[in-house]
Amino acid sequence: MERVLRLKTEAMAHHAPRCSFTALMVLLITCCATAAAAGDDHELTHLHFYFHEVNAGEPNASVVNVASLHKNGSTFGDVNVFDSALREGPSPVSRLIGRAQGIGVHASLDESGGLTATDIVFSDYGEYSGSTLSTTGHFNVSGPSERSIVGGTGKLRFARGYMISELLSSTDTAIVVVFDLYFTLSY
Ligand SMILES: *[C@@H]1O[C@H](CO)[C@@H](O)[C@H](O)[C@H]1NC(C)=O
Ligand SMILES: *[C@@H]1O[C@H](CO)[C@@H](O)[C@H](O)[C@H]1NC(C)=O
Ligand SMILES: *[C@@H]1O[C@H](CO)[C@@H](O)[C@H](O)[C@H]1NC(C)=O
Repeated sequence: MERVLRLKTEAMAHHAPRCSFTALMVLLITCCATAAAAGDDHELTHLHFYFHEVNAGEPNASVVNVASLHKNGSTFGDVNVFDSALREGPSPVSRLIGRAQGIGVHASLDESGGLTATDIVFSDYGEYSGSTLSTTGHFNVSGPSERSIVGGTGKLRFARGYMISELLSSTDTAIVVVFDLYFTLSY
């Protein structure tokens, strides 16, 4: 499954080679089957939206650096707190569906990644408005990240699965990241 998703991501980023296209079709069929079986908690749900973060230090920053040891040039040990917009699309004026609120700890000595604990808080997202998902895991600075969905609240109680994220674009002041979440609600 993970391999299929990576192929899908690559297919979206570049021009799809034939094998990626096949993988994408398999994924689409899986998603359709999921939708058809709505109501079955064991089925995989797929959510797709965009994370918009305004860099620390900028007007209306959505992330702050709350601790930095600065013993040397390394960011190891730094802690960030963020409350970034989740939007339906990649445009900064696209509909706001919720917020991604949490902490990021620079937990890799080699600065290749870190630990994040992020709550996905839905405010305007159909039946999931008012519900949340909790995620945690390793953030990869240089490539796509896969993090765990460890729980949820409201309509998303007992959520379990994973979240794939990949940087879509960046400017001097902000970044946009694609989020794909896959989970079941079985218990
Ligand atoms: C910051 O947010 C305020 C209130 O939403 C808005 O009026 C202002 O244009 C924003 N500034 C920037 C630089 O985005
Ligand atoms: C900073 O200090 C850490 C911990 O002692 C060390 O692992 C790292 O290599 C140092 N980084 C630099 C750029 O000197
Ligand atoms: C992080 O991403 C890079 C580039 O895709 C990859 O080479 C590396 O293996 C990834 N690291 C982890 C821990 O996933």
